[in-house]
Amino acid sequence: MTRPASPLTRRRFLAGTAAAAATPLILTPTTLAASRRTIRKDDPDVLRVGLVGCGGRGTGAALQALSAEDGTVVLVAMGDAFADRLDSSHANLLNALGQERAGRVQVDAEHRFVGFDAFKQVMDSDIDVVLLATPPHFRPEHLRYAVEHDLHVFTEKPMAVDGPGVRHVHETCELASAKGLALVSGFCWRSNVRHRAFYERIHDGAIGDLRAVYSTYNATPLGTNPRQDGWTDMEWQLRNWQHFDWLSGDHLVEQAVHSIDKQGWTFKDTPPLQCTAIGGRQAREGAERGNIYDHFSVTYDYPEGVKAFHMCRQMANCSNENSDYIYGAKGTAEINGWANQHIITGPDAWRYEGPGNDMYQAEHDELFASIRAGSPRDDGTWMLRSTMLAIMGRMAAYTGQTITWDQAWNSAERLGPETYRWDGELSFAPVPIPGRTKFA
Ligand SMILES: NC(=O)c1ccc[n+]([C@@H]2O[C@H](COP(=O)([O-])OP(=O)(O)OC[C@H]3O[C@@H](n4cnc5c(N)ncnc54)[C@H](O)[C@@H]3O)[C@@H](O)[C@H]2O)c1
Repeated sequence: MTRPASPLTRRRFLAGTAAAAATPLILTPTTLAASRRTIRKDDPDVLRVGLVGCGGRGTGAALQALSAEDGTVVLVAMGDAFADRLDSSHANLLNALGQERAGRVQVDAEHRFVGFDAFKQVMDSDIDVVLLATPPHFRPEHLRYAVEHDLHVFTEKPMAVDGPGVRHVHETCELASAKGLALVSGFCWRSNVRHRAFYERIHDGAIGDLRAVYSTYNATPLGTNPRQDGWTDMEWQLRNWQHFDWLSGDHLVEQAVHSIDKQGWTFKDTPPLQCTAIGGRQAREGAERGNIYDHFSVTYDYPEGVKAFHMCRQMANCSNENSDYIYGAKGTAEINGWANQHIITGPDAWRYEGPGNDMYQAEHDELFASIRAGSPRDDGTWMLRSTMLAIMGRMAAYTGQTITWDQAWNSAERLGPETYRWDGELSFAPVPIPGRTKFA
């Protein structure tokens, strides 16, 4: 089957990286003028925000947006698939803001939208910035609508769950760059000051040439919502979205992608040549736990024999760890994620001892400051590469095949239904069996 040429093959990625390093993107008056959202003309002091996906992270992101500037950011529209999620998010926001800051939530009854088209209604509500925090399956469509409507964006990770989604988001990122729109991702570790200091040292050669990277995201299973009377297949799957491959991309793509993102950061976001992986589903029980795996182990091959290994697991009663180990020619480096320790050993031994920061708040502080400054933060390129890294690992595990970067990029397989409806039957794929499940 002939597929369209990859718009961002590995070769182009490398060329792009070098070019980007040599010539940073300069926002010309033309590209900036293309963004009608840079600062509002009618009320330049206020930035109006809309929230799409009012769950745990969306509510947190809204709170951080409303705390980013001293009272100059207001929430004016909210959208969710479900009314109860929207209502509880609205109540939680008011509660968290307290009486003094509650005025920052200005979402009247006409601007609370429910259903699959809620994202359009939020984005059509005369807003400047949209926060995207639905399950990632919907991200490509939501991102495109936002950028086409000249909105600055905060988007939770991951940015897609499959190859067509990644390619779609890639086009959107190029459009956002051309329009001078901010695109800030929820890959929160990139906004953590300890991590920034750590990776800066690695990039400055503190451990010498890279030899290998090993990361872990071994954690407990996520919660579920047992089916209730009256729930259709769609509602049931959406309320358990983390456990369905088409909605979440599987836990490697949805959760462990944070570790994979740090792997990408280590390699200055240069993609690998290929990867090989194993994975399976041993301990997940109950229909609500859908069709995803509960463990993965992926080996990524980079040029010159350099390898990156990642292991993740969602199982109860097992040892847990979330760490990153980087091995270089003259030293090693380690992040203990949960203990928040950053240590380099070798001739350039170092340990981070400075102050920490709230990385979730930092994302929004930087987003709004960059909009105000007229030089919007643009995470587009690397946030998509990190997403693709995780997706290619899943593809390799599901199929049992070694998958190249270009193969993954050009994958034709779209997960999930083409259109979304509440009624009727909604089947989902069987649990993949390596060696039998085909790459597409
Ligand atoms: N950066 C981080 O540390 C971090 C942490 C948690 C979650 N996340 C990411 O944030 C996103 C949301 O996760 P969460 O934990 O908030 O999940 P959640 O289930 O609490 O929230 C998701 C919300 O989206 C709504 N929704 C589903 N489909 C929708 C649609 N088509 N249109 C509008 N609303 C829709 C759901 O009803 C729900 O309220 C995911 O992509 C997840 O990976 C990131």
